[in-house]
Amino acid sequence: MPSSRHTPLAEALMRLDADGHTLVLRRIMPADVEPMLAFQRGLSFGDRYFRYGTPAYQPSQEDIQRQCSADPEESRHFIVVAHRQDRARIVAAADCCMRLEADACEFAILVDAAWRRRGLARWLLGHLVDCAREQGLRRMVGKTLGSNLAMLGLARGAGFTLLDGGEGPAIATLSLSLDGTELPV
Ligand SMILES: CC(C)(COP(=O)(O)OP(=O)(O)OC[C@H]1O[C@@H](n2cnc3c(N)ncnc32)[C@H](O)[C@@H]1OP(=O)(O)O)[C@@H](O)C(=O)NCCC(=O)NCCS
Repeated sequence: MPSSRHTPLAEALMRLDADGHTLVLRRIMPADVEPMLAFQRGLSFGDRYFRYGTPAYQPSQEDIQRQCSADPEESRHFIVVAHRQDRARIVAAADCCMRLEADACEFAILVDAAWRRRGLARWLLGHLVDCAREQGLRRMVGKTLGSNLAMLGLARGAGFTLLDGGEGPAIATLSLSLDGTELPV
């Protein structure tokens, strides 16, 4: 079982995995542009399709630069970096648009295919939820393709419910109450 050490939200979180990696969950920084581009280059068409809704989409260097220096009041970007010996690489990334509405935010997550089913998305999502609560937001939303069983399973496991987002069965809208108030069905 991985062990974990929790530190305050503004700092990094760490855990050790069974393969001897130290996994660090932290906020993205301006120095992460090149490693983020490498992470994006490693994605398959399927990954892009599920994350961005189109298999050909590739964020530009400018897009990544904007993410790496985003205003945290507008959006939060977190990564998981796997360290082993003298190597380090980004293996997962998540972001949350903090101003979807006055009291709601919207998240998205992407995990490197070789690193899936190890709890990284659950870890990132839990952290985003903590950040959103700390910010006083009342609702977190996620949108995904209705065929994205991995994302649906992840969100359900984290307590999200499926809403009618008015976009038909192809797009699933997932919503989580952050303050305990009931959500419209
Ligand atoms: C969706 C995604 C982020 C999940 O990442 P992950 O790190 O593998 O997820 P976790 O290991 O944290 O899994 C947490 C739970 O999610 C669910 N889940 C994850 N992958 C699943 C799959 N392939 N099928 C069904 N359920 C799945 C399970 O309930 C899992 O819990 P369990 O392992 O105890 O059964 C990853 O598959 C991914 O990056 N997909 C491509 C991009 C994408 O679809 N992003 C979401 C849209 S923004």
